[in-house]
Amino acid sequence: MGAILPSSKYLGQAGAYYLSQKQGPITVLEVGSGTGSFTREIVPLLDAGDRLDMVEINTGLIAYLRNRFAEEPAFQVQPGVDINFINSDIRNLAGDFAYDYIVFSLPLTNFPPQMVEEILSLMLKRLKPGGVFSYVKYAFISRFKYLFGGAATRTAMTQNQHLIGEFASRYQIEQRLVWLNVPPAWTFYWRKPGE
Ligand SMILES: C[S@@+](CC[C@H](N)C(=O)[O-])C[C@H]1O[C@@H](n2cnc3c(N)ncnc32)[C@H](O)[C@@H]1O
Repeated sequence: MGAILPSSKYLGQAGAYYLSQKQGPITVLEVGSGTGSFTREIVPLLDAGDRLDMVEINTGLIAYLRNRFAEEPAFQVQPGVDINFINSDIRNLAGDFAYDYIVFSLPLTNFPPQMVEEILSLMLKRLKPGGVFSYVKYAFISRFKYLFGGAATRTAMTQNQHLIGEFASRYQIEQRLVWLNVPPAWTFYWRKPGE
């Protein structure tokens, strides 16, 4: 959904960048794990006492990911790391558990504005104070979509940009452009105030 190819390891590393600076046990939520391109970069950063919850809406993809953890050396977690596969729409994530890091790769710009607002509000709610949310957005693609889409597409995209911009003005701490991905993509980092 929205993806052209699985993300490159460089984009995965950018998504997981703040986790690489973690101190002490952490909780991580990965949203839209897909085939595991980001997961693969998150796994080696986890130590005993850490927890990783992976949410993916597609049943086939979550089964594929589970299999990678069972079979591939790159997906072996250290003893004492708690991993959970959650086959769900992120909007229906059960409970009220909060996370130190959220690594997010849903194609936000493809969603209707109301859904973007719902999901981003939920992500901020699920982030601990001081926690970091990272999300990716393809560079250049939205410009094409905007130029060649119909009026309804343009209206939705403008609304989404405005909405995302409001969140960004409150929370954004950094952004990086990853050229080594097809297509190149931005990674944005937001921090929830409070620590
Ligand atoms: C752009 S792909 C990214 C996949 C992978 N992280 C990567 O970078 O290659 C987005 C993923 O999010 C999943 N997804 C889309 N909407 C979702 C939702 N509402 N809740 C959970 N997962 C969703 C899709 O099935 C897809 O696997």
